[in-house]
Amino acid sequence: MGLVDVSRLPQHVAIIMDGNGRWAQARGQPRTFGHARGADAVRDVMRAARRLGIPALTLYAFSEQNWDRPQDEVDALVDLLCEHLVSERDELTDNEIRLSAIGRLHKLPTRARERLQKLMADTAQYDGMTLTLALSYGGREEMVDAMRTLAERVASGTLEPTAIDSATLENELASMNVGPVDLLIRTGGEQRMSNFLPWGAAYAELHFTDELWPDFGANSLYDALSAYQNRERRFGLVPDDCEAAKAPLARGSLERAL
Ligand code: IPE
Ligand code: IPE
Ligand code: MG
Repeated sequence: MGLVDVSRLPQHVAIIMDGNGRWAQARGQPRTFGHARGADAVRDVMRAARRLGIPALTLYAFSEQNWDRPQDEVDALVDLLCEHLVSERDELTDNEIRLSAIGRLHKLPTRARERLQKLMADTAQYDGMTLTLALSYGGREEMVDAMRTLAERVASGTLEPTAIDSATLENELASMNVGPVDLLIRTGGEQRMSNFLPWGAAYAELHFTDELWPDFGANSLYDALSAYQNRERRFGLVPDDCEAAKAPLARGSLERAL
């Protein structure tokens, strides 16, 4: 198990929780069985991240593209979400975790959206950690939606095209509310981004593991954090200039250093 220096934690960890289906199929079970076990892994990892003091954890729970899976699998995933938005309430409140969500949430069925909104409202005052669920999320879709908003502001005369910079676009990206991703983990053996946080993860350190998501637990998270802490983050600079970048960045600290 990797050693973790709690004084140099990433500020924002994002996870592509992949491999539920294969985990279940390897046991002769339907894919939905893997999703149910995957939800247990979410609890373990969320607890471990909170205990360590990681300020922001973003989990890819359902992509915009996942709507095209077989209807019974989509229904099972929505049912699981609804169930856990009720059953995990005490877990969030006892640990002072604020729940947030990103994605085209209007596409979720009403029962899921209502439970989500209730739990987000009921945990809005907590600052122990922000847990963001990416639901019906796609990074390209998020950028398209943001660009449409900016285009509308230009068309109405409230925004000058020449005034658009990175910060203008970033302000329209809900995924950036907790800042850029420092560490991006993907379980399940694939080494791809699958449309997750293209803007926020632009300078993320990537950690790929063959472990399937239901097998991922606190120790797997410690291993990923330990590997992260052995990386040198450069942000386009040369090594001598980027000593400050080795430590986890306070938001905006690199910009200030520059
Ligand atoms: C990830 O596991 C969970 C979701 C995408 C909802 P998968 O369901 O993609 O599992 P594999 O990759 O097919 O094993
Ligand atoms: C990414 O996994 C989406 C989630 C983990 C929610 P997928 O299984 O959908 O991604 P691909 O199809 O392997 O790229
Ligand atoms: Mg998959």
